[in-house]
Amino acid sequence: MDFAEKIERIRQQAESDIRGAEGLPALESVRARYLGRKGEITEILKGLRLLPPGERPKAGKLANDCKVALTELLGARSGELAGNLEVKRLKDEEVDVTLPAGMKYPGKLHPITRVFDEVIRIFASMGFTAVDSPEIETDYYNFEALNFQADHPARDMQDTFYLSGGKLLRTHTSPAQIRIMEERDPPLAVIAPGKCYRCDADVSHSPMFHQVEGFLVDEKVTFADLKGVLTAFVHGIFSPDVKLRFRPSFFPFTEPSAEIDISCVSCGGAGCRLCGGAGWLEILGAGMIHPSVLESVKYDTGRFQGFAFGMGIERIAMLKYGIDDIRLFFDNDIRFIRQF
Ligand code: PHE
Repeated sequence: MDFAEKIERIRQQAESDIRGAEGLPALESVRARYLGRKGEITEILKGLRLLPPGERPKAGKLANDCKVALTELLGARSGELAGNLEVKRLKDEEVDVTLPAGMKYPGKLHPITRVFDEVIRIFASMGFTAVDSPEIETDYYNFEALNFQADHPARDMQDTFYLSGGKLLRTHTSPAQIRIMEERDPPLAVIAPGKCYRCDADVSHSPMFHQVEGFLVDEKVTFADLKGVLTAFVHGIFSPDVKLRFRPSFFPFTEPSAEIDISCVSCGGAGCRLCGGAGWLEILGAGMIHPSVLESVKYDTGRFQGFAFGMGIERIAMLKYGIDDIRLFFDNDIRFIRQF
């Protein structure tokens, strides 16, 4: 094989290796194989001096031309591969600006929390202070001090969750009246929001539910004050055109007692499915604090009178937001919570 043929074969092989290199590192090893310190072309150039002097110029030119051509080809291929990399990077980073944005759901307040906050805000604006009161109670605070007779049906095992050691889960927030009045002297205007428990469960009863208790004690407090405060509250939480109806009722710890209905928030009083055709919805229990309750906290009943009221928060939330099943509040279905 003569020299020219040998160079030509190396060139062809090198050209195909360069074209076949699929990345910059692969291309670099091709370069080293042919043009590196011990590369094939380099070795040939080094070996030129062993040729007979007459052949050297021609062979030198052939070898050099080959080196120049391969160097050029390497440069071109390297540019090509770098370009491919750039194209690939751009493709990987491509953003389709026409796609809809991903939905981000910010945290939401539970509807019960929202109603609690609103009730507290409205009563705070009338000078009531919010307090905490225990959920685990004794018979004394939940019943006895509130003037429940020993055989009152609310003390029945059916309604009350009894715990060991004579304790029970409070069945209403009214024990807060006793606890606060034992601690403070009149005048006072307090609301006590919190959880209550009764052994009862259907579409409108949950074994755990929420109430807000409210009470005010001072000199010269009358039923008219109770009516004024509750009217302002109902107008604040629903709307100023909602009407109130005070219906005589009975609670052991108030005398006289009333249940308060509001004109139906759905039909405005005409009668519909929500109000069962009555046009009215019951939302509150209230009354003048019974003298024996004031006596149990050693208030001077000759000097002080008070009123008290209690409401179910689920009931108010259901009416405000048109919810027809109380269990939805506690199922923890994220689709329900997201609607508020
Ligand atoms: N505690 C009563 C209930 O749970 C409501 C109420 C509170 C009634 C205060 C009168 C006064 O039904």
